Amino acid sequence: MTQELTAVHTESPSSKPTGWWRDAVIYQVYVRSFADSDGDGVGDLRGIRSRLPHLARLGVDAVWLTPFYASPQADGGYDVADYRAVDPLFGTLEDAADLVRAAHDLGLRVIVDVVPNHTSDRHRWFQEALCDPSARARYHFRPGRGPGGDLPPNDWESVFGGPAWTRVDVPVGSGGSRPEAGGEWYLHLFAPEQPDLNWEHAEVREEFDSVLRFWLDLGVDGFRVDVAHGMVKPPGLPDIGHSGQARLIGEQVLPFFDQDGVHEIHRSWRRLLDSYSPALRPCGTPGQRIGVAEAWAPTSERLALYVRPDELHQAFNFRFLNCPWDPEAMRRVIDESLAATASVGAPTTWVLSNHDVVRHTTRYGSLARARAAALLMLALPGSAYLYQGEELGLPEVTDLPDEVRRDPAFRRGGPATGAQGASADGQEGLRDGCRVPMPWSGAEPPYGFGPGGSWLPQPADWAGLTVEAQTGDPHSTLELYRAALELRRALPGLGAGPDPAGNGEGNGMRWLDSPAGVLAFGRPGFVCTFNTRGTPVELPSPGRPVLSSSPLGGDGRTVLIPADSCTWWAI
Ligand code: BGC
Ligand code: MG
Repeated sequence: MTQELTAVHTESPSSKPTGWWRDAVIYQVYVRSFADSDGDGVGDLRGIRSRLPHLARLGVDAVWLTPFYASPQADGGYDVADYRAVDPLFGTLEDAADLVRAAHDLGLRVIVDVVPNHTSDRHRWFQEALCDPSARARYHFRPGRGPGGDLPPNDWESVFGGPAWTRVDVPVGSGGSRPEAGGEWYLHLFAPEQPDLNWEHAEVREEFDSVLRFWLDLGVDGFRVDVAHGMVKPPGLPDIGHSGQARLIGEQVLPFFDQDGVHEIHRSWRRLLDSYSPALRPCGTPGQRIGVAEAWAPTSERLALYVRPDELHQAFNFRFLNCPWDPEAMRRVIDESLAATASVGAPTTWVLSNHDVVRHTTRYGSLARARAAALLMLALPGSAYLYQGEELGLPEVTDLPDEVRRDPAFRRGGPATGAQGASADGQEGLRDGCRVPMPWSGAEPPYGFGPGGSWLPQPADWAGLTVEAQTGDPHSTLELYRAALELRRALPGLGAGPDPAGNGEGNGMRWLDSPAGVLAFGRPGFVCTFNTRGTPVELPSPGRPVLSSSPLGGDGRTVLIPADSCTWWAI
């Protein structure tokens, strides 16, 4: 009974009139690791296309694809050399167009990544800048400090560890002499292969407008904006005055993140997105094209500025992801997130895992907790992001040998991101263990990932976790997610709730009295109970159970809520 459903009717995403993103469930595909079509061991666009039916059956509304653009892959594609080309590793432009069309045919929208904070060092602009100092204004080049300019221009640290500056050679002069060491320094908040762009330069802004149009014309439904809080740097690039590892996600205030100037860029992008009215859409389902900010801001209120009505549509809620297994902390984050986004009329988003953090099954220390957290997330008002493989309950792979790791943060010794949790098995800040390719079928690696091997080794004991093995098993995590997404569409009180206009007051959520360690809230026609304790808790039955992450006990009148569990009730 744990996954028994009430009668459901499924609504096709294409039939939602507008504001589809407000309660959308968006599935993140980490392109390298989803499905490989050509046997080179690296996931690709044709591989994704062949697996779209899995996503349609799962019941998500949209897919977000991580970067598949031409790139030397110094940071898994977040180092883009050509924003309008598909890297041959992943396919062709035609494959991209085919994928978008095929997704639309299945009622799935497609969001692609845009990486505006930095380019690859192989980008034409940076190559020009290396040869010709007069072509450097699109980046942040500065002379060094100290005798001979041997010290970096300021004390900023890269998110991946080490100084955020690298020194270049003096370019070859007209006499054809060999390049000499000791030239200027350039800024890179991430790896040295990712030089930061100067967004004060008009050409940078124009170029990105054109890149966005390029992909919108191809039919994509929106963009996930990488490092949306980093594009504008403080005037004069001042010292921080203290050392300390910069993180992409984490409780910190850094002068190079969350500058007010970024909002003007997001406003102009919103105008561009809005100009792509449904009438202009070349194919597929009508609807608004959206922007989602990957942004870290020091408070929920500062984060809400990114989703004001004239800015981006959504921002990732990393505070929720960062929350430890603690009911009070979770409740606080939920309240603060809802209040902050309501104040600007935007939907809240929820996310537990992504390609930069330890998978939440491992972070929270058990599959039971991961399943419970997923049901909690999917019961909250707003939009939810799923990371590929979480629907299978995949754990972090914690024993990858050093020689197969590709994360630049690993080589540079900096924890890129860190989501705190009960048990991350020493993997905080290491990002390969969550990027191990998906297991689809079969008893041994590569588990149907593709006709060849897989770029990161898959564990030998994943046979029971494949999509094939879990399909049809009522106790599997995959069937739990499928049931949850089906109910989310069927129960009117779920998803955005009764207030699609999103003025923030109508999501109908209210906290209910509950014993210590248990969170309980109601939404119209619905109750969610979430037991964070390691022991069962007896409660008067709040309604008719429609889905539970662990089997319920009790005699019908009272109910025994299992340890580390979440239950959905129809009332
Ligand atoms: C991405 C990371 C990437 C970084 C630099 C982040 O937002 O999610 O994977 O390393 O940006 O582009
Ligand atoms: Mg391939």
